[in-house]
Amino acid sequence: MAKPKVYVTREIPKAGMDVLKPYCEVEVNQAEQPPTKAELILRASDKDGLICLLTDQVDKEVLASGPQLKVVSSISVGFNHIDVSEATKRGIYVTYTPGVLTDATADFTWALIMATAKRVAEADRYVRDLKWKIAWAPMMFLGSEVYGRTLGIIGLGRIGSAVAERAKGFRMKLMYYDPVRAPTQKEKEVGIEYTSLENVLKQADFVTVHVPYLPETHHLIGRDQLRMMKPTAHLVNTARGPIVDEAALATAIKEKWIAGAALDVFAKEPIESQNPLLHLENVTLAPHIASATGESRFAMARIAAENLIAVLKGEKPTFLVNADVMTVRPLSRAKML
Ligand code: GLV
Repeated sequence: MAKPKVYVTREIPKAGMDVLKPYCEVEVNQAEQPPTKAELILRASDKDGLICLLTDQVDKEVLASGPQLKVVSSISVGFNHIDVSEATKRGIYVTYTPGVLTDATADFTWALIMATAKRVAEADRYVRDLKWKIAWAPMMFLGSEVYGRTLGIIGLGRIGSAVAERAKGFRMKLMYYDPVRAPTQKEKEVGIEYTSLENVLKQADFVTVHVPYLPETHHLIGRDQLRMMKPTAHLVNTARGPIVDEAALATAIKEKWIAGAALDVFAKEPIESQNPLLHLENVTLAPHIASATGESRFAMARIAAENLIAVLKGEKPTFLVNADVMTVRPLSRAKML
């Protein structure tokens, strides 16, 4: 029997390729850039599976272009780049890679909390630009205290919880908002108080965003929400760019409604040159790298490949997004291996 055909939208860690190669005929986009939509449509047209990244918009047209497609496996925890309901209708399994990037992402969120509080990136630019002319000055680069302050977490899922756990060392007061409240037992274990979004914004010294990007979370943090924050507060976003209204954030920073922000994610990635956030000193910027450790990225690639192979073996993948797809195409009809 012919091997299943799989398209991989970018070169991925060997850990993923090693899982795919014994079972599949694998075609890889060798370019540094993601495939264009036309390319993705062309490549998907004769494939049984797709390994994609969060930069690939797997929309209705892409899904429609692959009559043989049985599985779209993303190397990411977020899956807002995939039209999941369309995939389900077409009997296409959608899988993702949660868990293995939780620690890397929570660590990085803390790097951003500390960076914005202590103005690390700004200070680095200052030194490199040879602007450091006075050896030590009592009021130079005053930052914000973190120890003992209040951390507000928006979204207490895996990553939000891991961020909370790390706050213990800083003896912070913890509060969170989540559309779905966590069980009381979990709140007790984490030592976190549940409250409204408004209260989190009004009381927290650091607000960090960890909800998925959905129509309901689009601009969840907009002008009105930024207006509620303390002038000494900082906003951190390692989730998805469009959860924060960037134009409103730029105004909030310029007009000093808040003290600073640190962002790993943006509405348009890579960031556009006209983005006003690029020109604000007290905004720390990173190029969507929160999960970027070797450990995390290798595991993500391996798990994505394992998810894909499981579907093609007719087995339930460990991390399935659309469990209802099994009623449209039972696993026995996805089985090729
Ligand atoms: C990163 O943003 C991911 O979704 O994995």
